Amino acid sequence: MDITKLDHFAQALIKEAGERIRSAFSYDLVVETKSNANDLVTNIDRETELFFIEKITAQHPTHRIFGEEGMGKPVTFLEGVVWIIDPIDGTMNFVKQHRHFMITIGIFIDGVGKLGYIYDVMRDDLFYAIAGVGAWYNDSPLRKLQPVKLEEAVIGINANWVTPNDKINHEKLISLIRKVRGTRSYGSAAMEIAFVVTGKLDAYLSMRLSPWDIGGGTIIATEVGAVATNLNGEYFDFLNQDTFLIGNPAIHKEILEKYIEQL
Ligand code: IPD
Ligand code: CA
Ligand code: CA
Repeated sequence: MDITKLDHFAQALIKEAGERIRSAFSYDLVVETKSNANDLVTNIDRETELFFIEKITAQHPTHRIFGEEGMGKPVTFLEGVVWIIDPIDGTMNFVKQHRHFMITIGIFIDGVGKLGYIYDVMRDDLFYAIAGVGAWYNDSPLRKLQPVKLEEAVIGINANWVTPNDKINHEKLISLIRKVRGTRSYGSAAMEIAFVVTGKLDAYLSMRLSPWDIGGGTIIATEVGAVATNLNGEYFDFLNQDTFLIGNPAIHKEILEKYIEQL
């Protein structure tokens, strides 16, 4: 497998898909709901996933595609080459704000992340990594994260998890929020991960994410020394939904041990 060639192919596809999405604002979006009234999908989410499936399959017929919208064949194992794709991460932002949404892709070979991409479509900004080689923000190499103290950290968290819920002890999360310097919520898991790997956030956590939300991001994370696990401190399950914490290595363990209590 020529990884450099595969990287060039993936980057070209992502840029082309981004161009198509940007031009989609000139015609009507069809917005539907999925699992609940706030779980949105549009015709563009589906068309973009289909675009990737058709282009990848034409060039690499043996590669399998695990996409959020399920437009391809089901994926139940990670052997061989698997592209884990979220065609639009941050669909609510896409619909409401027309910005702050990402295309994100992780390319796994035999279950090991090799190429990771987070593309901010409206800014035309690409965060990407080649495992074992490095990570970049457009043409600039990303540096290893510098240590940060928890009291000086800015963390990404959705306010939902700080209200009473049946998944996590929200009182402990409130004490985390009081401890850190600030919190942010951007509405796109991939965007929050892009901010962690560039040091604009120091951690991001969620009680429920899917493989396509974080597949690309975790590959970039490894290259800059960020730690990404589920909330048990274990490897994220790339075939199912799981909890998630990505953070600067200086604070990841402290957050897990002192502030996370799953119910
Ligand atoms: C969602 C976004 C959001 C996160 C949700 C995801 P989608 O992805 O990443 O920030 O909180 O859990 O499902 O549906 O916009 O692709
Ligand atoms: Ca998503
Ligand atoms: Ca999506």
